[in-house]
Amino acid sequence: MKKIIAAAAALLVSGASFAQSVEVLHWWTSGGEAAALNVLKGNLEKQGVKWNDMPVAGGGGEQAMTALRARVTAGNPPTAVQMLGFDITDWAKQGVLADLNAVAAKEGWDKTVPKALQAFSKHDGKWIAAPVNVHSTNWVWANKEVLDKAGVTKLPASFDEFMDAAAKVQKAGFIALAHGGQPWQEATIFDGVVLSTGGIDFYRKAFISKDKAALGSDTMLKSFERMAQIRKLVDKDFSNRDWNLAAAMVINGKAGFQIMGDWAKGEFLNAKKVPGKDFVCFRFPGTQGMVSFNSDQFAMFKVGGDKAAAQVKLASAIMDPGFQSAFNVVKGSVPARTDVPDTAFDDCGKKGMKDLAEANTKNTLVGSMAHGHAVPASIKNAFYDVITRHFNGQIDSKAAVKEMVAAASN
Ligand code: GAL
Repeated sequence: MKKIIAAAAALLVSGASFAQSVEVLHWWTSGGEAAALNVLKGNLEKQGVKWNDMPVAGGGGEQAMTALRARVTAGNPPTAVQMLGFDITDWAKQGVLADLNAVAAKEGWDKTVPKALQAFSKHDGKWIAAPVNVHSTNWVWANKEVLDKAGVTKLPASFDEFMDAAAKVQKAGFIALAHGGQPWQEATIFDGVVLSTGGIDFYRKAFISKDKAALGSDTMLKSFERMAQIRKLVDKDFSNRDWNLAAAMVINGKAGFQIMGDWAKGEFLNAKKVPGKDFVCFRFPGTQGMVSFNSDQFAMFKVGGDKAAAQVKLASAIMDPGFQSAFNVVKGSVPARTDVPDTAFDDCGKKGMKDLAEANTKNTLVGSMAHGHAVPASIKNAFYDVITRHFNGQIDSKAAVKEMVAAASN
């Protein structure tokens, strides 16, 4: 008898007792990201669904998308894949994504997910992905003690005020801006700079409509000139640094600011830092009232039999309102569902939810270029290339403007 009990216990521990399993490809490998993902893993495992993890590190997901292509080409796609905006549409067009309409109808997803997200979660009238959150890219994260020591008493509300505050931080002996020199991180800064420099209509013309006059304009030139100013705020070791290591520089009081999407907050929380006390969050100066969003969705691939049943459980677990609160509190994002209360969220999270709702009504909500919600990957990558070479001094601002026009017709 004892032997049988021991064997059963061993089976449980090894996970072999799970009747179903899902394989999930994602790029959530930083401390804060992994902590958030654990909420989902735990919820599923409680339902008897084993989680087979396929992490591919690399912020923004470029490497993950490369790994995915190899799997789909081999005819063996994972059950679900973390994906952004136009990438979902691109895969949907290939006819390889599953149809989630039955579970979506049963649970009323149409009524609770904003249209701006549905534009990517649905294709040809079919739900193909489950949106887990809404992030936004036009945020700045600052170390409170560093600001105090540097004498920055008021949070900057315009680009020039930001440059003044950064100069004070530098003077006080800190690194002004923690930055990781990777193309997607430079593009993330560019989202905020373009919004701040040109406003919402200009952003739409340049990045959503790919209007050549806007891309080639003086406003775009000014945006690049501002990027060159920002370049002077980073330390000499910025090249190829991961975003979470840049966040750690602000967390540890080496640097004053980081310009980064609100996944950065997940790192602060994971390091037990408290918003308002240890760190502050504010919109990229000059973009107050505007939100450049990206939404992490789990695109579901066509899988058969048992796998399909587990996939529906995964989709349903992602769309559960209680889960969307618990997950996003940890992740730094806000729920994809509009019916989740903000009670469990900290001040930055509450602000994020309020900003999103307001931007949605005032029509100042735009898809993030840097995170795949403005243009398809082919054009996004061409923009990345220009922005990064400019940031690294390989081309000047005038040349960058010309190249942006060319990149749009990629
Ligand atoms: C974004 C993604 C976030 C976060 C970030 C850095 O593209 O939407 O959830 O993971 O990359 O990895």
